[in-house]
Amino acid sequence: MAAKRRILIAGNWKMNGLKKDARSLAGALGTKMSKLKSKPEFEMLVCPPAALLGPVLDAVKGKGIAVGGQDCHANEGGAHTGDTSAALLKSMGCKYAIVGHSERRTDHAETDAMVKAKAEAAHKAGLSAIVCIGETLKQREAGRTKSTNKKQLAGSLPEGATARNTVIAYEPVWAIGTGKVATPAQAQEVHALIRAELAAAIGEAEAAKMRILYGGSMKPGNAAELLALPDVDGGLIGGASLTVADFWGIAQAV
Ligand code: PGA
Repeated sequence: MAAKRRILIAGNWKMNGLKKDARSLAGALGTKMSKLKSKPEFEMLVCPPAALLGPVLDAVKGKGIAVGGQDCHANEGGAHTGDTSAALLKSMGCKYAIVGHSERRTDHAETDAMVKAKAEAAHKAGLSAIVCIGETLKQREAGRTKSTNKKQLAGSLPEGATARNTVIAYEPVWAIGTGKVATPAQAQEVHALIRAELAAAIGEAEAAKMRILYGGSMKPGNAAELLALPDVDGGLIGGASLTVADFWGIAQAV
């Protein structure tokens, strides 16, 4: 029997927005959430830039919207100028930390081992880690989609990963911010592969409960068919998380 997994609609704001934009976006989402008559079938998460965590946490207080960091450092503290620890995110009121986003892997040369260490730091601080993996266009065209995702998952999966403390995000790099979305068949194929790999790594029961998000040009117009796929348990949404209409539109597709 398929496990019931609560859909996670996660907004990754990346390095976008100023204080006023963050307040108004988070505030408007909060208003939408408070108008719902019953508990939604989805969990909503927003991940603003680190400097905007405070205003966003204030704006969504009591509105049933979780807040997360876009990254965290592998160490608990110390001489790491410009970085943010998982413990700090937790102390602010965050529930999640995204780790290993392809933009961090590229911009900051993050390796699978670093991503794994960050996810473990997130766990230690009491956060859930959203571990991102995904192939580039070159890897897909070379027929290396499966091997790339398998390797990244094996290298990035934190020790002690459970369905409670870990979410996987499959984000084909060629689909991020490009408007080129994976077809339902492409997405389901990789999501099923990830679940099978998780079953081998952490056991079938835990793998059946773990959420696997799709990310890459998810929009209100394509969300319904992606979110209906058997192994897609939510979205990690960049561009379309920056406007209330688009982000709410995706949540409505659940
Ligand atoms: P996108 O970004 O929705 O703008 O493609 C997704 C992501 O990078 O998380």
